[in-house]
Amino acid sequence: MAVRNTKAANELIQKWQNEWSGMGLPLNIEVMELDLLSLDSVVRFAEAWNARLGPLHVLINNAGIFSIGEPQKFSKDGYEEHLQVNHLAPALLSVLLLPSLIRGSPSRIVNLNSVMHYVGFVDTKDMNIVSRKRKYTSLVGYSSSKLAQIMFSSVLHKRLPAESGISVVCVSPGIVQTNVARDLPMIVQAVYHLVPYLLQHSLLCWRPS
Ligand SMILES: NC(=O)c1ccc[n+]([C@@H]2O[C@H](COP(=O)([O-])OP(=O)(O)OC[C@H]3O[C@@H](n4cnc5c(N)ncnc54)[C@H](OP(=O)(O)O)[C@@H]3O)[C@@H](O)[C@H]2O)c1
Repeated sequence: MAVRNTKAANELIQKWQNEWSGMGLPLNIEVMELDLLSLDSVVRFAEAWNARLGPLHVLINNAGIFSIGEPQKFSKDGYEEHLQVNHLAPALLSVLLLPSLIRGSPSRIVNLNSVMHYVGFVDTKDMNIVSRKRKYTSLVGYSSSKLAQIMFSSVLHKRLPAESGISVVCVSPGIVQTNVARDLPMIVQAVYHLVPYLLQHSLLCWRPS
């Protein structure tokens, strides 16, 4: 498991071991550091993993950010943060891990995407959304980064020779109640937590004519 906060991850694993391993549900997970806001960290992680010379069967690029309502921010690598965390860093990771994925072939890269990519726009001359042709909002940053991920995945999938045995897919999880709203004001978080119930209720009330 690749995470930026290894201490918190190890504590979670310990908690699971304490609560469940006695019931025959042991957890065999190793934690390694990976901060997608640092391309150096991505390279370090991939080098450490590839150095094991072992197979990698599935790479799940799950981590993502949607900094709703926050001002535009840039990583120390100089990229708009949604672009870096949601697209550039996972793309770099995928390419760097190809040797291990080939060893694990047939293998798969699974990218967690979002239906929000439908409203995204990728301007290859203005990936950081700074040219003022488009006004930056967190929605523009998020949706565009997710569209960029789909475009990259499609190119990678087509360029990988069939003999590599590696497939690249993007999946959208739908609406899931997670910590994605953790940085928002309490009132917005409260509304966010109500969304699934409201959706469920409206679906239950909806009858096809
Ligand atoms: N929830 C939804 O309804 C929904 C809908 C569509 C798509 N998605 C997609 O599903 C994926 C998972 O999202 P989620 O809802 O589970 O969000 P979440 O609860 O906010 O979890 C995001 C995860 O990404 C990690 N992360 C963020 N920045 C990172 C960085 N710089 N380096 C390494 N890890 C980083 C976080 O690590 P920390 O724990 O250290 O913060 C956290 O584990 C994302 O790609 C998201 O876009 C979610």
